[in-house]
Amino acid sequence: MTTATPSASARPLMNIARYDEGVYARVDAERTDEDLQIEGELPRELRGTFAQNSPNPRFTPPGATHWFDGDGMVHGVFIENGRASYRNRYVQTAALRADLEAGQALRPGIMERFQPGDPSPDRDTANTDLVWHQGKLLALWWLGGQPVHLRVPELDTVGVEDFGGTLKGGLAAHPKVDPRTGELIFFDYNPYRAPFLEVGVISPEGRCTSRQVIETPSPALFHDIAITEHYTVLLDLPMVWDPERLARGQRRVRFLRERPGRIGLLPRAGGEVRWFEVPPCYVYHTINAFEGVNRQGDPTVTLLACRIDDPIPSLPHSEEPEVPRLEFLRLDPYFYRWTLNLRTGEAQGEQLDDRRTEFPRMNNDRLGQPTRWSWHPRIAPAPTLLFDGCIAYDSESSSSAAHSYGPGRVGGETVFAPRPGATEENDGWVLVFVTDRRTERSELQVLDARDVAAGPIARVLLPARVPVGFHSHWAPMPA
Ligand SMILES: [Fe+2]
Repeated sequence: MTTATPSASARPLMNIARYDEGVYARVDAERTDEDLQIEGELPRELRGTFAQNSPNPRFTPPGATHWFDGDGMVHGVFIENGRASYRNRYVQTAALRADLEAGQALRPGIMERFQPGDPSPDRDTANTDLVWHQGKLLALWWLGGQPVHLRVPELDTVGVEDFGGTLKGGLAAHPKVDPRTGELIFFDYNPYRAPFLEVGVISPEGRCTSRQVIETPSPALFHDIAITEHYTVLLDLPMVWDPERLARGQRRVRFLRERPGRIGLLPRAGGEVRWFEVPPCYVYHTINAFEGVNRQGDPTVTLLACRIDDPIPSLPHSEEPEVPRLEFLRLDPYFYRWTLNLRTGEAQGEQLDDRRTEFPRMNNDRLGQPTRWSWHPRIAPAPTLLFDGCIAYDSESSSSAAHSYGPGRVGGETVFAPRPGATEENDGWVLVFVTDRRTERSELQVLDARDVAAGPIARVLLPARVPVGFHSHWAPMPA
């Protein structure tokens, strides 16, 4: 791995306003296909459902539209005994049911103005993330919303999961399941009214047992957290919703280049957040965090993530009234490690590679504990900016291995599925949907996580295209 600072001219923009075409385009049919064609051989120990959540608008909202507006659709491949089946299903949210009854989209999307003062002006589509907690697959939204329980492997909607009525308020994408305790640590986030950020816990028994307000100076664009054995790690970074625009019913985000960011450690047992100042930056997704001790014997917390130095273009757009708007984001993330020194209160950062990667994943059975391995989709050069391959990183030995999907092929999130009973951190498989732009067909690639450069050991050929979407998850079958 090498360390380099990218030049400003090399930084690409991602315009995701024109989302409903090509590899992003919605699919119309919900389908079920059994006994899919497989090239190579699926491991017999790989038993469960690989699923991806994607925005897929059932109706086109009035006015300008955005990629984030689409209703959640989950695409899943169920694997058992070396065979595979495919299903895709809409997440049956209250918003989608209301639209279906009306026969049209009842609300405009996030590019349109909203009524100032409306505490929740957005459609909760549950289109962003998936999490597997205590035998339940939950679809989640990028703001604090209602988790939706999906039956596996059918992917039919069971209903809103309110944890026996104990979830008071929302639950956003990217909660973390602590593999040691079985707890689900989540955050709730809403830019429209204070408090902007709350952190809570769902017990292994499925009850919300705590909820704590986190004081933040402004509504930042919170998107992910991390956990360690004793802390919930919070990212309060200076990409914020513009409060003056929000007061006028407009959604605009600004990157406050002069304002430092803060990484916070909230004791898992409750208490005050301890903040560590870091230079301005933005992070969409963390990989892992864990506790340790440095060479001087100081206690530390390590945070691994994909960091963006400058997430929104500044000039000339910032002086214009219409931009920066939500669709203009600079997709310029690099694998990064922060080390927080709990004795001195200082944070040190280090870029770990000079290739752009995002949607990173690790072995979730080790979440919150020291880890060295992660698997990242690799971002293709501009103007494509889609994932053209994946990289396996070993941050301990500073080595990596890459797998390219090939010309005209784009992939999704690279999810690690552990081999049942494995003792080694990287003993398992990496699963990823890959789509061929020319044939408009997708496949599920299964890679040996210890040798991704060898290419897939199995390719499950799907009868349809899985649109470029958001997050994926592995839901193992019970042993
Ligand atoms: Fe995300």
